[in-house]
Amino acid sequence: MNIVSVPVTPFAGQRPGTSGLRKKVAEFRQAGYVEAFIQSLFDALPEVAGGSVAGRTLVLGGDGRFFNDCAIQTIIRVAAANGVGRLIVGRGGLLSTPAASVLIRERGAFGGIVLSASHNPGGPDGDFGIKYNVANGGPAPERVTEAVFRRSQSISAYLTLDTADVPLDRVGAARLGVTEIEVIDPVADYARLMERIFDFDRLRDLLRGGFRLRFDAMNAVTGPYAREIFECRLGAASGTAVNAEPLPDFGARHPDPNPLHAADLIAAMAVPGAPDFGAASDGDGDRNMVVVGSAAIGGGMIGPSDSLAILAANAHLIPWFRDGLPGVARSMPTSRALDRVADALGIPCFETPTGWKYFGNLLDAGRIALCGEESAGTSSNHVREKDGVWAVLFWLNVIAVRGEPAAAIVADHWRRFGRDFYRRHDYEAIDSEAAKRLIGTLRRRLRELPGTRVDGFEIETADDFAYTDPIDGSVAEHQGIRLGFSNGSRIVYRLSGTGTEGATLRMYFERHEADASRHGLSAAAALGSLAAAAAELAAIKAITGRSEPTVVM
Ligand code: G1P
Ligand code: ZN
Repeated sequence: MNIVSVPVTPFAGQRPGTSGLRKKVAEFRQAGYVEAFIQSLFDALPEVAGGSVAGRTLVLGGDGRFFNDCAIQTIIRVAAANGVGRLIVGRGGLLSTPAASVLIRERGAFGGIVLSASHNPGGPDGDFGIKYNVANGGPAPERVTEAVFRRSQSISAYLTLDTADVPLDRVGAARLGVTEIEVIDPVADYARLMERIFDFDRLRDLLRGGFRLRFDAMNAVTGPYAREIFECRLGAASGTAVNAEPLPDFGARHPDPNPLHAADLIAAMAVPGAPDFGAASDGDGDRNMVVVGSAAIGGGMIGPSDSLAILAANAHLIPWFRDGLPGVARSMPTSRALDRVADALGIPCFETPTGWKYFGNLLDAGRIALCGEESAGTSSNHVREKDGVWAVLFWLNVIAVRGEPAAAIVADHWRRFGRDFYRRHDYEAIDSEAAKRLIGTLRRRLRELPGTRVDGFEIETADDFAYTDPIDGSVAEHQGIRLGFSNGSRIVYRLSGTGTEGATLRMYFERHEADASRHGLSAAAALGSLAAAAAELAAIKAITGRSEPTVVM
C-alpha cells in the first residue's frame, strides 16, 4: 500500500457561504473530483481551523444516497494518505447530520465530513453533496468554506492510497496506513444523548399507553434512528417508523418533509382512526415535519414557525431545559411567533440570516439554547445542526407531560399568543439574471416604499436585512428584503442559496391574528390577498415571466 500523489487541474469547488458542496451526482463522479475537493479541504484547514488533519480524529458518514458508498471509500483513502489519525465511520457509511454533530462533539473530533444533499432527490440523476463540520459540531463557517474554495482554484495534486475498499458493514476497527478506522453503530451515541435530554420513562408510558405515532423516514437516513429510538427503546408498536429502509434513490421520491413530498403522511393522518401524531424527516435527518390530523386547527402540518414557538413556550417541561432558556433565535424569514414567546418569557430573541451556521456563535456562547427556521429546521444547544428526530421527541415529551393532544396544545398556544398566519411561495429555476434584477429593483426602491399602501395597509418599514453577529462582530449583508406593515403583517423577498438550477425566489408572508374566532381560517384565506399584492409589488410576472409560484408552503 503506497501513498500516491495524483495531479489534478484546479477547479471551482464549493462556493463560499453555501452549506456544503452540492451538485449533480454526475459532477461528483468525474475522475478525481471528490479527491480534489477533499484535498482542497485538508490543505485549507491548517490556515483556518487551527491545524492540519494529520493525527486528528474525523467523523465520516452520509445519508445513504446513491454514490454515498463510493465517495466514502474515496474519502477514506485520501484521509489516510493525508495522515488522519482516526476516522469514526457510521456502519454502512450511514450517519444522519445531527448524529454526526453529536459524534464530533462527544468524541472530541477535529471535524467531520457528511455526505448528503439534504432533501434533494438522489439516484444517478439526482444530487450529491459533501459538507464539512468543524470541532463544535456545526457547519464550517464562511472563513473555512472560503479558504477551501480558494484552495480548489489552485490545487495541483491530491494524495491517496492505492488500496482496496475498507469493509464498513460491521462495527469494528481496522487500520489503513497510519489511520485507525473505527466503524460504529450510527445510532448509539445519538440515542444515548436523546435519553439525557428527554424523559424516556414518560415517553415510554405514552407510547405504550395507546398513543400512536407515525414517523415517515422517507426512505432516507432516519429509518434506523426511528426504529431504534421509537420502537426499540420507547416501545412504540413495530411499524411506527414507515419507509424506514434507507434507499439510494429514496424510493424515487424527494426526501423532503413537506405536505407535497410527504403527501402520504398527510393523507394517513387525515383518515378516521389515524395515528395521534405524525412526523417526517428529510434525507439527512436534520429537518422535521410534524402533523396533527385534527380538523380543529385546520388539520395537516403544524407550521415550522409555530412549532418552534410552541416548543419554546413548553421547553421547561423537558428535562434538558428544566432551568429555562437563556434566549432563542430564528432565521429572519421565520415568523415572529417565537418573538412573542420570548417576550412573555422575558428572554432575548435573535433574528439571524437564513442558514443554520448563523446560530453557531450564539449557541456556543450560551446566549441561546433553542432556535429554528421556517424551512422545517429546529434544534437546540445539544448539537450544532438542526435535528429532526430530536424535534419529534420534544413534541412527544410535551404531549406526555401536558397530557393533551397536539392539536389542543396548538390551539391553546394561539389563544394565548395569537396566531401568526404564515406562507411561503417559491419560484424555482427562474433565470438567474431576472432574479437578480427583481431583487435589485426592490433594493433601489427601499426608500420610496414606506407610506405605500399594499393590500389595504401601509408599508411602515422597508430594508435589506443585514446582520452583525453579536459574538464576533462579523457582518452579513443583503440577506433579504423585508417589508413591515402598519397592521403587523410582513413580506420578505430573498433568493435561495441552495438551488442547483437557475435561481429560486422565495417570498414569505405573515399576519398576526389576535382574534381566536379567526384562528380556524386557512393560511391561504388569511394571506391570499397579501401574497397577490406582494407578487404585484415586485413585478414577478413582468420580470420572471411566471404567474404562479412552483411551491406553496
Ligand atoms: C434553505 C432554507 C434554509 C436552510 C437551508 C439549508 O436555504 O431556506 O432555511 O437553512 O435551505 O437546509 P435557501 O435555499 O432558502 O437559501
Ligand atoms: Zn437536511
